[in-house]
Amino acid sequence: MFATKRLVNLILGGNKIKTSQTLVQRYKHEHLQVEISGENLKFPYVWLRDNCQCEQCFHKTAKSRILDWTKFDLNVKPKDVFKDENSVKICWTDGHTSQYKLNWLKFRSFTPKSQQKYNETIYKPPKITWNSENFAEIFSKHDYHEILNSDKALYDWLHKLSVYGVALIQNTPDSETAGDAIVEKVGFTKRTHYGVKFIVQNVPNTSNVAYLSSNLQMHTDLPYYEYCPGVNSLHCLVQTEGQGGDNLLSDAHYVAHYMKEHHPDQFKVLTETEVEWCDIGTEHGNDFFKLYRAPVICLDSKGEVIRVNFSIPQRGSHFPGPIESVVPWHEAHSLFFKLNQRFAANFKTKAGEILIFDNIRLLHGRNAYEDNGNNVRRLIGAYVDWDEVYSRLRCLTVKLKNEDGI
Ligand code: OGA
Ligand code: ZN
Ligand code: ZN
Repeated sequence: MFATKRLVNLILGGNKIKTSQTLVQRYKHEHLQVEISGENLKFPYVWLRDNCQCEQCFHKTAKSRILDWTKFDLNVKPKDVFKDENSVKICWTDGHTSQYKLNWLKFRSFTPKSQQKYNETIYKPPKITWNSENFAEIFSKHDYHEILNSDKALYDWLHKLSVYGVALIQNTPDSETAGDAIVEKVGFTKRTHYGVKFIVQNVPNTSNVAYLSSNLQMHTDLPYYEYCPGVNSLHCLVQTEGQGGDNLLSDAHYVAHYMKEHHPDQFKVLTETEVEWCDIGTEHGNDFFKLYRAPVICLDSKGEVIRVNFSIPQRGSHFPGPIESVVPWHEAHSLFFKLNQRFAANFKTKAGEILIFDNIRLLHGRNAYEDNGNNVRRLIGAYVDWDEVYSRLRCLTVKLKNEDGI
């Protein structure tokens, strides 16, 4: 039984709209106000109708909207609104009836506080930047077997990875395929022209400068991919016993923020000047010719850094912009590189460790090393997209945290 209480007063604002009013005023009143747990929450009529959860409008198992938008009335209004302890029922001017659970509505509240909570708990955990000085505090270590056997351990590892852009897995079995089980816990790998997985080892006449034993300057992998792999995984099977082979890692978001504050002109140049990223060659018998144009620092519509591209070897020699921008861009690039070196952390992974990091946020590099006859440095690399990582994190959040109203 729907214990009804008519909410006449709540819908009058919307019905009083006059056409002479400005758009802003018009929209201001086109919402329903509902009291949920002591808060007066507002929901636009058009949004409520668009998000009707009945079986005609929303497919239960596909969890998808099936409402026919060819017939959608943008000016739809409630004719009657009823509320009981757990839900709100609306009879619309288009003849349809909708019912919404109060906790479902509350979870979708438009208040900035509620939207922020959703952003942080479900959408994406907020990133926290770091530099060489506090790297030791943020560099988390996770156990291979715990990740495979516990959702909580899997969640903690992925959460740290998303917040700090780096997390280390230890106690990995000494096998080329050991990393596969970890990837499968998340989702699946991103295949590139270097393979589903790739071996980082000193190879003469290589297809990639990473497959040499010389110094590998800090970079992001595959900036020449429009759909650039988001997360890089490097499983250390054999580390050199000699000098070198150390990892360098820098949080390029920290550097970008630093540049924005201290060198705003160079920051602007790096966010606006397109660069041609490039990789040409043959791998596993397949030839490739990859080009992608994008700035070093890519910003989203809110001005936040969304992707960093940086690779000295994989920056092409065609400069897509006007000739006047070449010198300023090289100056800004040089400063960015120097700052990344200044703020970089330095460590050396051991056999059995998998270094996992955000490939579109951090720069990574490696010192030169020497192999000898029976000690040949060998890493197994693989990529996973952020879409898969965030998806797994959200599934685990729902499973572990029991959020109400999802
Ligand atoms: C790479 C890479 C790091 C290393 O293969 O792209 O960055 O430690 N390797 O060898
Ligand atoms: Zn419906
Ligand atoms: Zn690399």
